[in-house]
Amino acid sequence: MAIRKVIEYGDEVLRKKSKPVEEINDKIITLIDDMVETMHKYNGVGLAAPQVGILKRIIVIDLYDGSPVIKLINPVIIKEIGKQLLEEGCLSFPNQYAKVERPEKIIVEGLNEKGEKVRIEAKEILAQALAHEINHLDGILFVDIMLPDTLQTINPEDLK
Ligand code: CO
Repeated sequence: MAIRKVIEYGDEVLRKKSKPVEEINDKIITLIDDMVETMHKYNGVGLAAPQVGILKRIIVIDLYDGSPVIKLINPVIIKEIGKQLLEEGCLSFPNQYAKVERPEKIIVEGLNEKGEKVRIEAKEILAQALAHEINHLDGILFVDIMLPDTLQTINPEDLK
């Protein structure tokens, strides 16, 4: 496994639409493992493949709540229910946060690493994370949909 470089806002790759994974081969498995390691390295709760420069429809999520890391290939939003307003950040926007409206509940289908179909019914923070990461696959960033004038920079040095 390896830590990959996280691409930051301003790079056009973050604006491109990712392509579906057609075959889950060793290269894809390595990519997913690297994405998980990279997400953990930077204490992120989620990462999408375009954020490491690969335009494939893959996301990983870890809420650090003891449940297994979610690794989803070709995720599709089946249904969104309700709305919630939450503080949100992104590894491609270091130290930046904004208020974003997300579905309160979401149903997502995709494939796991074995190519088996999985269905996730999520709420609260997991619903937010799934919506955020799937947006990345279509080149949509949280600053595109944030509430106006809510973007703020929080420098970790200031919190010490
Ligand atoms: Co993000």
